[in-house]
Amino acid sequence: MPPFMPASHQARGIAELFTFVIVLSIVVFATVTGLVLFIAWRFRRREIGDEPRPVFGHRTIEIVWTAVPIGIVALLFVLTLIQMRAADPPTPSGRTPDVVLVAHQWWWEIRYPAAHVVTANDLHIPAGTPQLVELRSADVIHDFWVPRLSRKIDMTPGRPVRLWLAPDTVGTFFGACAEFCGAEHAWMRIRVTVDSAPGFRAWLAAQQAPALAPLADDARVGSSLFSALTCANCHAVAGTADTAQVGPDLTHVASRPALAAERLPNTSENLRAWLAQPDVIKPASHMPNLHLRDADLNDLVAYLETLR
Ligand code: CUA
Repeated sequence: MPPFMPASHQARGIAELFTFVIVLSIVVFATVTGLVLFIAWRFRRREIGDEPRPVFGHRTIEIVWTAVPIGIVALLFVLTLIQMRAADPPTPSGRTPDVVLVAHQWWWEIRYPAAHVVTANDLHIPAGTPQLVELRSADVIHDFWVPRLSRKIDMTPGRPVRLWLAPDTVGTFFGACAEFCGAEHAWMRIRVTVDSAPGFRAWLAAQQAPALAPLADDARVGSSLFSALTCANCHAVAGTADTAQVGPDLTHVASRPALAAERLPNTSENLRAWLAQPDVIKPASHMPNLHLRDADLNDLVAYLETLR
C-alpha cells in the first residue's frame, strides 16, 4: 500500500502526483550530483599549471540546459492542473449540498439538508457517490482536514465554501481541525465514516427517526431533568420539545462512537464523567459543569443512553 493510504480517487491522484514529483526530484538530484562529481574527477588538475580549456558560447549545451528545466517545470505545471481539476471539479452553485458542515468551538455540526438530519462529529457518507459538502463556521476560523481523503479547506465565518468528498473505500477516517481556533483546538477531531451505499441509507433512515420516549423509570426521570436543568437550553432532541441548536444535537447521541469531538469513547462511564466534570475533561469547552448530584447523573445517563 502506498505510504499515504489514500481512500478516495482525489487522495490517490494527489498521492500519485506527489510520488512522481519526489521520484523526478531524485532523478534530477542524482543526475546533477553525478555530473558535478564526474566533471570534478574528469577535469581534475593533474600537474601544476594544468588548467582545463574554458568553453564559451556552446550553443547546444546552452539550449539543453535551458530547455530541460523548462520542460520539467512545464510538465509538473500541466500535471498539477490536471490533478487539481480532477480532485476539485467545479461545484455547481445552484445545487443543494448533500452535507452542510458547520465548525464550532470545538465540535462539528453535521447537517443533511434533504433528509432533515442533524448530528455531530461523526460524518457519514456513502462510498462511490461524490458528496458535495458546504463548509461554514459559526464563530472563528477553523480548518477541515481528513488526511486519507486528501481534503483540507479553511472554514471562515461568513464565507461558506464547497468541496467534494468522493471516498471509494468503506472505512473510518479520522480528521482534525487544522487551524488554531482556541484552547480546545487539539480536541476538535472529526470522524468520517464511509459506508456502503445500503449501509449509508440505513444509517440516514435511523438518524431521521425522532427520539423514542424512554420507558424505564430512571430514563424517564432523566428526560425530565434534561428539560428542567439547563441541558435543553443548548441541546435539541428531535421528537421532544427541546429544539435548541447551540450545542450538538443529541437525538441519536448514543449511536455515536465518541463524546465531545473524539475526546472520549462513548461509554456509560465516560458519558457520566463528561456530564459530571466537562470542565476537567475538556477545560475550555462551552459545556458547563452543572454540579449534578449523583442520582441526577445516573438518571441523565440512563436517558441519554436511550437516544440511539
Ligand atoms: Cu477548530 Cu482548530
